[in-house]
Amino acid sequence: MSFIIGIFICLGFVLVKNEEVFFEYPEYWPKPVYNFSKLSMTEEEFQLGRHLFYDPLLSRDHTISCASCHLQATGFTHVDHDLSHGIEGRIGTRNSISIMNLAWNTSFMWDGGVNHIEVQSLAPISSENEMDTSLAIIVEKLNKSEKYNSLFQKAYQDSLVTGQKILLALTQFVVMLNSYNSKYDKYIRNELGGKFTEQEKIGLKIFRNNCASCHKEPLFSSNDFKNNGLNVDSTLNDFGRMMVTKKPEDSLKFKVPTLRNIQFTQPFMHDGRFETLQEVINHYTSEVQHSPTLANELQEQIILTHKEKVDLLVFLRTLTDQKFLYNKRFSYPRETQTN
Ligand code: HEC
Ligand code: HEC
Repeated sequence: MSFIIGIFICLGFVLVKNEEVFFEYPEYWPKPVYNFSKLSMTEEEFQLGRHLFYDPLLSRDHTISCASCHLQATGFTHVDHDLSHGIEGRIGTRNSISIMNLAWNTSFMWDGGVNHIEVQSLAPISSENEMDTSLAIIVEKLNKSEKYNSLFQKAYQDSLVTGQKILLALTQFVVMLNSYNSKYDKYIRNELGGKFTEQEKIGLKIFRNNCASCHKEPLFSSNDFKNNGLNVDSTLNDFGRMMVTKKPEDSLKFKVPTLRNIQFTQPFMHDGRFETLQEVINHYTSEVQHSPTLANELQEQIILTHKEKVDLLVFLRTLTDQKFLYNKRFSYPRETQTN
């Protein structure tokens, strides 16, 4: 698949483009770290990935799709579930992560246990608490489906379903899920609909003083792993990054997640322990647990008045991107829309 991908800059946005699929992001954002060369960046590959993402055929008993745990209207996470629910109601050990702006991620999962987006899907597919199957079995099932033979034909000019193609098509879909049209973005770009109230401006300032060192603008995440002072849940005993690297200095460190669309992605943290953003803010101001790996940024207590906490909360709501959450291109593919 050696398509040439062009990069165009127009009206303040960068478009990575080949044929019809546009991968767009604001010009002032850092360059994506993902190398798109294995993707064909065609509408057909995107639509195939979209069908796969929403298809419960990808689980052993055809009950769970990727979208079961990653719902669009909540920033592609599983709202109201602290720990993820997979096949036969089995409960996983972590809260589903929201999926957006993945091309800027150098690692995936709360502990960074997966280091490449193109193989990321193998984890839920093979996890016995999630989809409990294997790529080989999915390949076999899809090869028997006329619908998929036709979708693969359109995407790859070959109707044969292979594991590699499934993984690339899923990548093509998830990597397009970019969120950059929140009120905050419009404020930064000085666009219509981006006028901040005084309270939102104060909230942004509080955010920049206390939170942005880790939740870095403009993505509101970073590829770092940090211990943000949560106490260990003794039933889960999740030590985060250390479980991948086996290094004691990584104990209790988790990926710094994005805060985009945070208004809708509750519950919060790797184990979904907090139901509300108020609880999260209270954690940072009064419940940070000191331990040898606690992040430097949180060594000193963050002190906020009640009013400042509300201002911060009001600012966090400006990160909601309705255009992203309701973009029809990312929603369940109705049969009539597959051309
Ligand atoms: C049963 C629920 C469940 C299903 C089904 C599921 N996921 Fe997830 N997903 C999760 C959880 C939980 C995490 C975080 C896991 C961890 O940190 O160990 C996650 C993490 C991810 C991430 C990492 C995001 C990041 O920023 O690090 C991506 C991407 C993703 N899932 C995509 C998918 C795709 C694609 C599928 C379908 C093939 C899928 N998921 C199926 C629950 C699920
Ligand atoms: C030292 C770096 C650091 C600082 C400073 C920091 N955070 Fe975090 N934040 C993290 C990490 C790491 C996580 C994930 C922790 C986990 O799940 O175990 C997180 C998680 C969150 C979450 C939950 C996200 C989700 O998807 O579940 C919210 C909300 C949040 N932080 C808001 C804030 C706010 C507001 C501030 C400032 C008051 C702040 N953070 C300061 C590192 C930081």
